[in-house]
Amino acid sequence: EDSKKIVLTEDSSLPEAKKSKINRLESLRTQRVRVMGWVHRLRQQKDITFITLRDGTGYLQAVLSGVVNQTYQALTLTLESTVELVGLLQEVPEGKTAPGGHELVVDYWKLLGAAPGQEDAFTNRLNEKSDPSILADLRHLVLRGETSSNILRLRAALLAAFRQAYAKLNCTEVTTPCIVQTMVEGGATLFKFDYYGQPAFLTQSSQLYLETCLPSLGDVFCFQESFRAENSHTRRHLAEYTHMEGEIGFINFDQLMDHIEALVRAISETSTSYLKHAIQICDAVDILLKDPASAALVKQLNPTFEAPARPFLRISYVDAIAWLNEHGIKHPAEDEAGNPILDESGQAKMVEHAVGDDIAEAAERQMTDIIGKPVFLHSFPAELKAFYMKKIPGQEGSKLTFTESCDLLMPNVGEIVGGSMRIDDFDELIAAYRREGMDPTSYYWYTDQRKYGTCPHGGYGLGVERFLAWLANRYTVRECVLYPRWPGRATP
Ligand code: 4AD
Repeated sequence: EDSKKIVLTEDSSLPEAKKSKINRLESLRTQRVRVMGWVHRLRQQKDITFITLRDGTGYLQAVLSGVVNQTYQALTLTLESTVELVGLLQEVPEGKTAPGGHELVVDYWKLLGAAPGQEDAFTNRLNEKSDPSILADLRHLVLRGETSSNILRLRAALLAAFRQAYAKLNCTEVTTPCIVQTMVEGGATLFKFDYYGQPAFLTQSSQLYLETCLPSLGDVFCFQESFRAENSHTRRHLAEYTHMEGEIGFINFDQLMDHIEALVRAISETSTSYLKHAIQICDAVDILLKDPASAALVKQLNPTFEAPARPFLRISYVDAIAWLNEHGIKHPAEDEAGNPILDESGQAKMVEHAVGDDIAEAAERQMTDIIGKPVFLHSFPAELKAFYMKKIPGQEGSKLTFTESCDLLMPNVGEIVGGSMRIDDFDELIAAYRREGMDPTSYYWYTDQRKYGTCPHGGYGLGVERFLAWLANRYTVRECVLYPRWPGRATP
C-alpha cells in the first residue's frame, strides 16, 4: 500500500546525466548516465531488483535498491516494458561479470511503457518450444531474442563488408527495379501481377539490368530483392530473398589468370570472371572478421567458423556426375513427364546420375557435406541453364554443349552463388531467344547491348540469406531474413 504513495523525482543536485546508447557507455564510466530501453531480463529479490536492459545496441545490467526499488511500478515491473534508467555507471567489481563490464546503479527511473504480466506476459506469448508456424506468426517478438537479433546484426555487418570489398574492386552500386516485364531465370518461378492493365512481374534477378550498366558505369553490383514463385518448402528457399549481384566487363582468360595469380597461388582451369569474384567473397569474410564486433558475432553464432582456404576446389559438372556415382549418391528416377518412377515396393526408384541430369538439391547437399568445404561446380550443360549463358568455345556439332557457368556450393547450405559468362554475340543471343521460345520484342533493350558495342562479360548472383546461413551456421535461411516469405507466408 505504501509503495503506491512513493513518487520518484530526479535529484537535481546530482551531476547532469548524459543520455547514451548502451554500446557507447564505456567512455562514460564513473559518470551519471541516462539510458532508455526494454526490460530484457528481470530478477526481483526482497530489497534489490536486477534489470538487464536492452536497447538494440547492447545489454546493460542495472541495479535498483532503496527507494527506487520500493515504488509500485518497481514491484510490478514486467519483462519487455520500456524504461528510462538514470544513475551512476560503475565498473563491475573484480570477479563479477556483466555485459560491457559495467553496471548502472539507478538513482532515478521512469516507466515509459508497461508490458502486460500474467496470462498475456511476454514469456507466455513467446514459448521457444512453440510450433514453428506460431513462432513465424510471432516473428516480430522472436526478433527481440538474442540469437535472432545477433543474426540480423551480423547481416548488417556482412552487407557493409561486401560493399567495402566492392569498393576495392572498383565496382559501382546501382539500384535496380523490382517491377519488371521480362524474365531472367525462366517463366516457371515468376510472380505475375496486373500493372495498370499490363502484365508485369516481380524481378527474379537484376542481371540483365546490370549488364546494361557496363557501358555507362563500368563494373557494377547491386543488392536487390529477388522473387521466386517456387513451391519449395526447403531450408534454403524463400519466395523473396536479398540478391547480391555483380557484373564485370572485359574479362578474358589471360587477364583473369593474371588477376587471380596475383591473389592466390595457382589456378589453372576456367576462364571466367566469376572466379575473380569468388575471391571477393573471401575478401568480404576477411573484412568482416577484422572487425572485432563482427568477429564476436560470428564466434557466438558459429563457434567453429573458419574462413575458407583459397583457392576453392573446382569440379566440372561432368566430373561431379562421376563423383556422385563413385560415392553411391543416386537420384529418384523420373518418367518423360517428370513424374517419379516407383519400384515394386512403392518407393521412389533410385538411379545413378548420368551426364545431362540435373544435380538436384539432395545430391548437391550430400556432395558438399562430404567434401566439407566450398566447392565450385562449373561448366553445366546448356540445357540445364538459363538462356543468356555463353557456351564454352569449340563444341560446335557436339550433342551436349556446356556453358561457362558455375555454382559455388557451401557445406551445410549448398548453392550460394550462381554465375556465368554471358552471350556477347548478337546472332547467338537471337538464337537463344528462339530456342527458349522467348519473344525478343520485350528484350529490345537487352539486345541493344549486343548491338551497340558488345563486350565479353560475366557476373553472378549471391543469395545473402544463404551466405548468412553458412556464415552463422543456421539451419535455415528463414532465420537469416527479417520477415521471411515462403509459400503461404507473407505475415507479419
Ligand atoms: O542461380 P540463380 O537463379 O542465378 C541468377 O538469378 C542469376 N541471374 C544471377 C546472376 O548471374 N546475376 O540465383 C543466384 C543465387 C543462388 O545461388 C542462391 O544463392 C540465391 O540466388 N537464390 C535463392 N535464395 C533463397 N531463396 C531462393 N528461392 C533462391 N533462389 C536463388
